[in-house]
Amino acid sequence: AKVNFHHQDGTVDAVEAESGTSIMRAAVSNGVRGIVGECGGQAMCATCHVYVREPFLDGLPEIGEDEEEMLECTAAPRDEQRSRLGCQIALGVDAEQIDVDVPAGQV
Ligand code: FES
Repeated sequence: AKVNFHHQDGTVDAVEAESGTSIMRAAVSNGVRGIVGECGGQAMCATCHVYVREPFLDGLPEIGEDEEEMLECTAAPRDEQRSRLGCQIALGVDAEQIDVDVPAGQV
């Protein structure tokens, strides 16, 4: 599965990840800047906040209760449609390919 991380400066990090890997893990293990993943994927820190690009929103799992709470605590403003926690989306399971925008800051 594949993720394209679009940065605010226009650069893109394209990452290949095994099926089942979360967007957060894919970013952290490939040194993608701007995704921190402080809590290790427990939906408890919001430092894995991403904005999912429009064409990839369809078919994503519903926002869970913990995720919903953490999305209220993101450093960058929440986008009602596009904001998700990167640790709650599993590549290859929830999406074969996904493009996300990385927020300006996570802390
Ligand atoms: Fe902490 Fe996603 S890694 S909320």
